[in-house]
Amino acid sequence: LGKQIEHYQMIDSTQTLALKRAQEGCEQGLVIISDKQTAGKGRRMREWDSNNDDGIWLSFVLRPNLIPAQAPQLTLLTATVLVKVIEAITELKPKIKWPNDLLIDQKKVAGILTQAQGEHDHIHYAVIGIGLNVNQINFQLTEMQTYQATSLKIETNQTFSKTELIQLFLSHFESLYQIYLTEGFAPIKQKWLESAYRLGEQLCFKVNGVEKTGIFVDLSDDGCLIVEDDQQKREKLYSADINWF
Ligand code: BTN
Repeated sequence: LGKQIEHYQMIDSTQTLALKRAQEGCEQGLVIISDKQTAGKGRRMREWDSNNDDGIWLSFVLRPNLIPAQAPQLTLLTATVLVKVIEAITELKPKIKWPNDLLIDQKKVAGILTQAQGEHDHIHYAVIGIGLNVNQINFQLTEMQTYQATSLKIETNQTFSKTELIQLFLSHFESLYQIYLTEGFAPIKQKWLESAYRLGEQLCFKVNGVEKTGIFVDLSDDGCLIVEDDQQKREKLYSADINWF
């Protein structure tokens, strides 16, 4: 990862460009970084506030030998890597809010966007985008979702080198990805659970229009959240089902 890096001062979205490169057949491991993005994209067509050079905005292309149902594992792996990176340079203990947000003190510090393309039995490519709030001291009140945003600087009063953070991210990703390719999802899942937001707590969710509650007990191999009701009956949740707050 990162043997080939395209670094821009300003483009619309690293994700859009990485998807284009992937479709054109680029090698896996290509990383696209932009100091600023004029049209950063979040999940579900939301905007991502990144028209500033205080955060890390990058996307990379992978071509793993996976089936489409395994693609969510890449998001979970990436979240675990981001936790390790933040823990390596600060005293902070970020939490992963399933499936793709990183929180510090309930506030969002990073988001992950995974877009995979493939057929029933294998994926052609996966493009993973990360947005990490690093040196911002305030946020415009835009979408930044329904909850508040924060940055490493707000949480620590320190300014961080983005170049060093990017290097750290790429090297941590590389090593965890190797573990994933050789040992599978189990070791990743274990690390993920160590930082999971609200693991062991009661969640409210809606399945087929019916509101229910259950304890968040585990993560499934296809990246679903598993909840257990008071009859010990387990249920798998997809991201649309859940209402965190
Ligand atoms: C989310 O939380 O909704 C995901 C946000 C992902 C943002 C990153 S920033 C780099 C890459 N380029 C984009 O346009 N989006 C992702």
